[in-house]
Amino acid sequence: MPFTANRAFKRAPRLIASAEGLHYRDDVGRIVLDGIAGLWCCNAGHNRAPIVAAIREQAGRLDYAPPFQFGHGPAFALAARVAALAPPGLDHVFLCNSGSEAVDTALKIALAYRHARGEGGRTRFIGRERGYHGVGFGGISVGGLPNNRSVFGHGLSGIDHLPHTYDRARQAFTIGEPEWGAHLADELERIVALHDAATIAAVIVEPMAGSTGVLPPPRGYLRRLRDICDRHGLLLIFDEVITGFGRLGYAFAAERYGVTPDMICFAKGVTSGAVPLGGVIVASSIHEQLMRGPEQAIELFHGYTYSGHPLACAAGLAALDLYRDEGLFERARAMEPVFAEAVMRLRGAPNVLDIRTVGLAAGIDLAPDPAGQGARGFAVMERAFHDHDLVVRVSGDTLALSPPLTIGADDISTLVERLDRAIQAAA
Ligand SMILES: Cc1ncc(COP(=O)(O)O)c(C=O)c1O
Repeated sequence: MPFTANRAFKRAPRLIASAEGLHYRDDVGRIVLDGIAGLWCCNAGHNRAPIVAAIREQAGRLDYAPPFQFGHGPAFALAARVAALAPPGLDHVFLCNSGSEAVDTALKIALAYRHARGEGGRTRFIGRERGYHGVGFGGISVGGLPNNRSVFGHGLSGIDHLPHTYDRARQAFTIGEPEWGAHLADELERIVALHDAATIAAVIVEPMAGSTGVLPPPRGYLRRLRDICDRHGLLLIFDEVITGFGRLGYAFAAERYGVTPDMICFAKGVTSGAVPLGGVIVASSIHEQLMRGPEQAIELFHGYTYSGHPLACAAGLAALDLYRDEGLFERARAMEPVFAEAVMRLRGAPNVLDIRTVGLAAGIDLAPDPAGQGARGFAVMERAFHDHDLVVRVSGDTLALSPPLTIGADDISTLVERLDRAIQAAA
């Protein structure tokens, strides 16, 4: 099983049989609250009727069409809808099937762009400590989670990492973007001086580092990163696989922070998790650079059999309709203070060392159990599911919350109360 303690799972399985709205039903019919929107993806809630209907209808009309040298309407329609949600200038979309593929695609587009400009020496990438960019070799190379890298060899060569932006002593129990830490963006200047800008293709960061435990960017940090990239001609890639489609109250974090990158990676929420789909939104200037040479020539030697699969595109179009028609991004923005206040009630619960919230996402650090790193986090996740009817995400001893954007104040209270009981049980 992926990213799973396999033996522990088989001892006490957490099996999910069906879902609706904010809830799952497990294999014995118990109703369980979904505190993490699937895996940061079911932003409109589960099994939404318009998305289900769109998938059914599409499956009956066109199951598949090859994306190499052929196309179909829903892929172009979805690309246009996604681009319309992105900041001006990001007007082109390449579709794939997951966040990991989106990241590898963005890195490859950056290299192809450099090559097309006669800058073939610009092959380095700069990622960030504690970054998560999926599990492809590109993603783990620019990513900065030690467990995801340490046993898998050297990865891509020519990678360097910015420092992460978290300092508990200065930021503990912050709601939203911490005041401290914008200066850490200046580390990019040091890295550029070390390697020379003429060797660097792009910088990639999550605007809010999600999988490592929800680290909102310090105030002004992303703007400083953008300015340094501009000064040295570096492309800036935002990995918005989690932050895209409303998690931070906007279509993209780029909008929340008023900082426009050169590419945005997306996945997860684009279909509200109903069918796998990912992609990269690309600046027109990059696209134009690649659209050169004889017209019969392939401009980018990259793509997947299931790039822009018709069922995924149909699900995506229906999900984007729901987000728009129900105003779910605005709703997330309106619920942000309610969510933050409720989650901060866990301050003072046993072993809680820090809580961070931004948008409808929260990270909660727990003190490790003497039994070993990750034991307490695992116990909370297990107790939450089996005894308190709640699904939470755990990574080591850090818990993450990211409920569907449809959640209301009462269900937020229920979520926090159940989590509180699970934390008490694991104390
Ligand atoms: C920021 C970020 N990038 C990439 C990925 C990888 O996405 P996937 O699991 O769809 O490959 C994730 C998954 O959580 C993510 O959070």
